[in-house]
Parts: sequence; C-alpha cells; structure tokens
Amino acid sequence: MTISYQSEYWNTEGGARWVRTQPLMDALFARHGEIAMDAASLDRGESVLDVGCGCGDTTLTVARRVGLRGTVVGVDISAPMLEQAERRVATERLPNVRFELGDVATHPLPEQHFDAVISRFGIMFFEDPPAAFGRIHRALKRGGRFAAVCWRRPDDNPWITTPRDAVAPFVKLNPVDPAAPGPFSLASNDRVHSLLAGAGFDAIRIEPLDLPLTFGRTEDEAAKLLVLLGPVGRALSEETDEVRIRAIAAIATSIAPFRHGSYIEIASGAWLVTARRAD
Ligand SMILES: C[S@@+](CC[C@H](N)C(=O)[O-])C[C@H]1O[C@@H](n2cnc3c(N)ncnc32)[C@H](O)[C@@H]1O
Repeated sequence: MTISYQSEYWNTEGGARWVRTQPLMDALFARHGEIAMDAASLDRGESVLDVGCGCGDTTLTVARRVGLRGTVVGVDISAPMLEQAERRVATERLPNVRFELGDVATHPLPEQHFDAVISRFGIMFFEDPPAAFGRIHRALKRGGRFAAVCWRRPDDNPWITTPRDAVAPFVKLNPVDPAAPGPFSLASNDRVHSLLAGAGFDAIRIEPLDLPLTFGRTEDEAAKLLVLLGPVGRALSEETDEVRIRAIAAIATSIAPFRHGSYIEIASGAWLVTARRAD
C-alpha cells in the first residue's frame, strides 16, 4: 500500500506538533469552529460528522451542542491526534462521541446517515478532493447541512506571510502549489464551488470570514507560537535549534507592527463554506 505524503505528515511531525500545542491551537481557532457550527445550525439530538477532527476540540463542542440524545463521529487520518482526542473524551466522559481513523475519501462512512457535517480546517489536505467531497455528500441525509472553514490566499493571511517573509532569507521554504493538498488548496472560491457542485451539493455559499488571531502578549511569546505554524513550522522541523532560535528572533521583529494594546494580533482570512444535500 502506498502511504500518502499527507498521511505520513499527520502521523509523524505534523500530528505531533498539533498534539504538543493543542490548547494553543484550540484557543487560536476556537471562533472559526464556533462559526462553522452556527452555520450548520446544529440542533439537539442530531447526528454529526466532524471531518479532519484532529485532537477533537470541535468534536467535543459539537457533542455538547447536540446533547446526549445526539451523536458525533470525528474522522481523521492522524493516529496521534485521535489518541489525544480519545484522552480528552475519556476525561470529559462524553458517551456520545466516537473517533474513527481513516481518509474521508475512502473511509466506509454510512450512507445518508448524518444530519450535518462540519470541519474546522480539515478539508484542505485531501489527496483526492472529488472522492472526499463525494463521500461527505453521500454520508449526509437528504436535506443535510455541510459547513466548514478553510483558508483563503496567503496574501489574505499576514499571520502566515509575515513569519514566512521574516525567515525566507535563511530558511528553505517550499513554494505554495495552489493545486496540491495543503493549507491553501481551497483558497480559490471557484475551486471550492466546483468541488462541492461536482459532489452533488446544493445551496453552496462561500463567504469571506476575516478574524484577527491573538498570538500572545509579547513579540517573543507570539514568535514562539508562530514558529510552529503553517509552512514555517513545516520547514523549521527539518532545521537545527540554532536556525529555530534565529527564526524566533526574526519573527519577533517582523510582528512588532501587529501590537494592538497588550496583545499581538494579526489578521486572518478564511472562507466559511456552507452547502446542503438536496431533499
Ligand atoms: C489543520 S488540522 C485541523 C484539525 C482540527 N480540525 C482542528 O481544527 O483542530 C487538519 C486535520 O485534517 C486531517 N486530515 C488531513 N487529510 C485528511 C483526510 N483525507 N481525511 C481525514 N482527515 C484528514 C489531519 O490529520 C489534521 O488532523
């Protein structure tokens, strides 16, 4: 069996980095998840699928929203992230949550089963997007709702481009390929629309969602978090501690203009994507 790049990445350093920084990541992206859940109009007693659920933060929030008569399944390709998710469910003793390890493009999801499917930044890494969105569509009941957030272009996300530009003189960064799986693979709203329409979705809406992200109180604290994220985080995982320390210093200087009062706050640009399976 061929192991895909994404599967390998999320089962090794990518997944390990998310597990290590899970509370920070959850605080950073909490609002995006809440907005996707609001857009999915989740109701008590419903059955929900969380795609690319990672360490399970959104899955647990959905479980609280749908209540004990509802259920939520989180599916993800990352074993270490799902292990972290399982630990959290055990701590919170939520009986209506289940996690399944698999690529949503091939995982045997039940057909016409879920009232809603949500995802917080879990839909941009699919190796086979038409197959993945097709399977998500088939897993929804007729009339079922889909709501997800994904990143827009790098230029709409200075929280990614500012650290990237700061380290570019001394760190080898891979160029962004908009067609390849990765954080910006769904930056084109035309591409998102055509993938969803191709999968059979109706009522497709793709709206910009601009939210400031708070990275810390000091430039140094914020730089230590930013150095772990996005393309910079990936590139630095292959570098020495010396380079990493240099990167933190360069990023700390570059983000000084983003101080707003007591916090370092940098703009982010996502799409809020909603759609329905026709009745
Ligand atoms: C940026 S992380 C987001 C995790 C989580 N949704 C959150 O907001 O904390 C992307 C997640 O998508 C998962 N993923 C990538 N490709 C996938 C696929 N084909 N099927 C299921 N999960 C996938 C990764 O393992 C990772 O957990």
